[in-house]
Order: sequence, then C-alpha cells, then structure tokens
Amino acid sequence: MSDGASIMEYSGTHQAFRNSWASTDHEMCRHSMSFHLHTTLRKEFFASYLHLLEQTRIVKLYAVTCEYIKGEKQFYYRAQKFYEDVPASEEGMMGDFVELSEVDLEGSRQFLKKFVGGPGKAGTKRALDCGCGIGRVSKGVLFPIFETMEMADMMEEYLLHAHEEYLGDYADRVESYYCYNLKDLRLSLRRYDVVWIQWVACHLTDKDLMDFLVRCKASLRPNGVIVIKDNMARQGCKLDPVDSSIIRHLDIMKGIIQKAGLEVLDVVKQEGFPEVMVPIWMIAMR
Ligand SMILES: C[S@@+](CC[C@H](N)C(=O)[O-])C[C@H]1O[C@@H](n2cnc3c(N)ncnc32)[C@H](O)[C@@H]1O
Repeated sequence: MSDGASIMEYSGTHQAFRNSWASTDHEMCRHSMSFHLHTTLRKEFFASYLHLLEQTRIVKLYAVTCEYIKGEKQFYYRAQKFYEDVPASEEGMMGDFVELSEVDLEGSRQFLKKFVGGPGKAGTKRALDCGCGIGRVSKGVLFPIFETMEMADMMEEYLLHAHEEYLGDYADRVESYYCYNLKDLRLSLRRYDVVWIQWVACHLTDKDLMDFLVRCKASLRPNGVIVIKDNMARQGCKLDPVDSSIIRHLDIMKGIIQKAGLEVLDVVKQEGFPEVMVPIWMIAMR
C-alpha cells in the first residue's frame, strides 16, 4: 500500500470525498459551530487517511480529540479540568498508588544509569522534566545526577508547590519552570543532556506527541537522551475519557518515536508493579 501505484487506487475515493464536501461548504453557514466542527473533522479525517496510506501505525482518536471548547481541544480541556481536582502531593501524582512511588523511582534510576556519565554517554549538566507535576521524578531521580534542572507542567499549582515546598534545597538548582501544555512548549536547541517524559506522553495526541519529540530531539546536547516512561496498553490503544489519556501499545509508541526521527536505544519494562495494573515501560531514544 505504500508505493505510488497503490496510493493511486485510493484517488477515486479521495475525489469522491472532496466532491461531497465541496457541496457542504457552499450550503453551510461559514460562521456556524457546525461548519467549524465539519472543517475540523475533515482535516483530522484526511490526516488519518494519509497515515493509513503510509501504513504508519499512528492511531487517530479524532472522534474524541477534534472538538474545541473555549478555543481548546476538548481532549486537553478535559485533562486540565481533571488535574484541577488532583492534589499537589505524591498521592496525587501517583494516582492512589503512592506506595509504588519508590519502586518506580528505583526502576528509573537503574535505567538512567545506562545512558548517563562516562565516555560516549550523556553529560550531567542539565535535564528537563516534562509533565513534572510537583517534581517527584526530579527529586528522586534527576537532581542527584544533574547540576541543574528545568521543569515543565501545565499546572501552575504543581510548579509552585515544587518550588516553595516539595523540592526543598533542590529548588535552588532549578533554572526555569515552564508552565505550558507540552503541545505548545518550545525548547532551546542543544540544551539538555536528558529529557524525561513520565506519565504525560499519554496526555498528548499522536500528532502533538510526535511534534513534541521532534522538538525534544533538537534540544539534546551531544549524546543526550530522551526517556519516555508510561503505561502501555497490552493491545492497541485505549482512551480514558476521565483524565483524557491514551494508553498505547509499545509498538504504536515506537511508531510515533520513529516518525519523529528518533532511534530507540533501549526498552525496559518496569518491574515490581502488580500484574493487574497496566504495564509500564521505559524507552530511551535519541
Ligand atoms: C500523573 S502526573 C505525573 C507527574 C510526574 N511525571 C510524576 O511521575 O510524578 C501527570 C502530570 O502531567 C501533567 N500534564 C498532563 N497533561 C499535560 C500536558 N498536555 N502538558 C503538560 N503537562 C501535562 C499534569 O499536570 C500532571 O502534573
């Protein structure tokens, strides 16, 4: 399906969609909500359609991610609302599994050791913690290794709590806090030895995650590494409409990583979590 000749097979279908939508364009009021929704749906549809033609294993959950509320994609708006009710605490960050926090942190420390410090490995000057929340990972994994840190999260309350309480003396070594949705976060070039993305890749749509990874790649210093740690579905993709997160099968995540032009260096499953829970994987890439 990926060669030019096969794509031509789809040109009839493509043209039929164009024709049918052309008439709708004339009939609908340009300022109406339905016109807006229609145009968004069409854009998302064609993006998915192209991905299918390219046989890219990117799953578009457009039915739930295309609608806008107050100028925000509903997908992101829901996540924002969800975290407004989540306390700025380790319990809040771990979603009621706070007793597993130390197991998680130890798994991360062991994984990170493989890529940092030493010839041919990443340096220890500066790391970026993405979707850092109150800084649980920064405090338990990154500060003991890196001279300085930068931290990014969409919730101002968490960043304030990190700075004023949770990080204690470590707060003096934070160069910048970025209060941004990662889909809008722009990064300086060649700045970080490690970019850590834990339990937040699931809150980005496929396209936004892919674009963010492209920016992360450009932000790496020599031998720098990006780590994604997240819940991965045992099969396919699953959307949780409550916190607006998508769990993806490891292969789907690898597809997004590859599309972003990154090479996977290592993939390790986090041990020590109950079998009934969704598996957690760590992926290192550059
Ligand atoms: C489950 S918590 C994990 C926090 C931290 N990574 C940890 O492991 O302790 C998810 C965090 O991601 C943040 N978040 C969710 N969606 C985001 C987005 N689109 N951009 C930036 N931060 C986001 C939330 O505010 C929250 O702090």
